[in-house]
Amino acid sequence: MHGNSNSNSNSNSNDATSTHGDLRGAVRRLCVVGASGKLGRYMVEHALDAGYEVVGVCREKSVHKLADLADRITIHPGQTDDPTVIARAVAGCDAVLTVLVPWGVHDYASGTADAVIEHADAGARLVFSCGWHISKDGKDRYSRRFLAGVWVAARLARLARVVDIDDQVRACRRVFTSDTRWTVVRGSDLEEGESEGLPVWSRHVGDPVLASNLVRRTDFALFMVAAASDDSLVHEAPAIVGRRSVSARAHAATPTAGSPSA
Ligand SMILES: NC(=O)c1ccc[n+]([C@@H]2O[C@H](COP(=O)([O-])OP(=O)(O)OC[C@H]3O[C@@H](n4cnc5c(N)ncnc54)[C@H](OP(=O)(O)O)[C@@H]3O)[C@@H](O)[C@H]2O)c1
Repeated sequence: MHGNSNSNSNSNSNDATSTHGDLRGAVRRLCVVGASGKLGRYMVEHALDAGYEVVGVCREKSVHKLADLADRITIHPGQTDDPTVIARAVAGCDAVLTVLVPWGVHDYASGTADAVIEHADAGARLVFSCGWHISKDGKDRYSRRFLAGVWVAARLARLARVVDIDDQVRACRRVFTSDTRWTVVRGSDLEEGESEGLPVWSRHVGDPVLASNLVRRTDFALFMVAAASDDSLVHEAPAIVGRRSVSARAHAATPTAGSPSA
């Protein structure tokens, strides 16, 4: 496990409100691409709580899902892979948080990543969401069960032409090789529920701290927002797990917690 999960543990000692206050840094204006979905909405709410000026992009047909927030955020309706929509939305933003979901079979996730990378302001913090199945350096250690699950889900979804997991892999490759200040946040299995605070993270799936493979969706969003002003996460692909999960608590209790490893 990487020591960063330990520095993260330090951040975790704060509750959501104080964490926001500490991590906000210089970021002032923040765009959420995919704002009307479950993760997106949580990100909008956390960013507003933290005092950011928030801009959101969502499909025209989903604008109504943000009706209760309409007087607090600026909404740009449109497909997230539409460069014109993205260019307008991200202009002047210090940070862009992007929900990467590979809908359909026409490179929706790659197109979304490309549009954000191309049009975000120079130096903006770019934070993308995905799952554990994405690997930055090939050093993740997946269980057979996990790999089988991804393989089956990917084949079925592709057959039904609903989702193309390989598109999300390509999208993340583009992010990893881009000349931007990116972070790719890799979510474990998700559940709903009250916030438990900022998740714990590690560089590689397979590290014991991540074994519980579960995080609250609201805390996934909390981590995305926190990453926007945490420079230690630039060019990292943290795999996250709930801070109150069994594995995270077990790790926190071990005497070696706090010593970095590669
Ligand atoms: N679900 C999991 O168990 C899980 C686990 C680990 C990581 N993740 C990651 O978490 C992130 C959010 O995933 P989520 O499952 O929680 O989804 P979500 O937050 O509900 O987001 C889905 C997004 O996709 C949009 N969308 C839905 N159907 C679409 C379509 N046909 N064409 C274009 N856009 C469409 C939604 O917009 P509308 O509001 O317009 O519908 C929304 O912005 C993703 O990056 C995913 O890889 C998920």
